[in-house]
Amino acid sequence: MRGKKCYQIIHGMNRPIETCPLIKATETLSNVTVELYEPGVNKYFMTSVTPMLDEEGHIKSYVHSLVDITEAKDKEKELIKSRNAFFNMLNDLDYSYVELKGLYNSLIHSFANAIDAKSPWTKGHSERVTNYAVAIAKEMGFNDKDIETLRIAALLHDIGKIGTYDVILDKPDRLSSEEIELVKMHPVKGAEILRPIMQLQDILPIIRHHHERIDGKGYPDGLKGEEIPFLARVITIADSFDSMTSDRPYRPAPGIEYALSELKESSGIQFDPGAVEAFLMVLEKIK
Ligand SMILES: [Fe+2]
Repeated sequence: MRGKKCYQIIHGMNRPIETCPLIKATETLSNVTVELYEPGVNKYFMTSVTPMLDEEGHIKSYVHSLVDITEAKDKEKELIKSRNAFFNMLNDLDYSYVELKGLYNSLIHSFANAIDAKSPWTKGHSERVTNYAVAIAKEMGFNDKDIETLRIAALLHDIGKIGTYDVILDKPDRLSSEEIELVKMHPVKGAEILRPIMQLQDILPIIRHHHERIDGKGYPDGLKGEEIPFLARVITIADSFDSMTSDRPYRPAPGIEYALSELKESSGIQFDPGAVEAFLMVLEKIK
């Protein structure tokens, strides 16, 4: 080895490597530690060079040490590999979740369209009720989770009408008392239709009670005031407003002015006063 440079002996190269700790230690006169890969032996080393100085501060010699860290580096590589695999898996899961969420939303909208398609008179009713209900909820500062629950409940609020005869829904004359009783079953039927779906349990009481009134004269259970789930009270207002501003087989639409005065007059009797107030503010803004 005599007469040979250390980079020739250790690294098998003809010139010093860029990160040579010996050169750096010579310049800085202090210890330098670097991690090096030696392709000749296919190993990683933690290399440390400390210059030993004489009394005048000149370099007398060097203490050069190499610690084989190949095993630790291999473990680190394995860890990085598993971490990347884990992140890839999370990305895949995220993608599947987005796909499922999309499918879920499309199904809910298809359901809503199927409900409205029962009768030409109710085309677009569920979507409009949803837009009004969500606007009320936003005006009242509901949190995102409640708004999402309300959105699904509003889209599906009349799903029980799927089990009601079209001849009754489309009847141009006033309904008989038996027919009225049949139509009044739709909130109960709706909740029953959705009961097997685990993810929709939160909306069952909203569907069941969307025709209750604050004064207890609604159906199916005659609940009063705060006994009625709050989100159901919001849907009642959105639903009534859309009915009053849409034509029906037995009457033309009473119109927006009539609907507004009805909402105000029946606030605290049929409708929740806070939700009415919020809805009037919403309508004022979009005027
Ligand atoms: Fe309804």
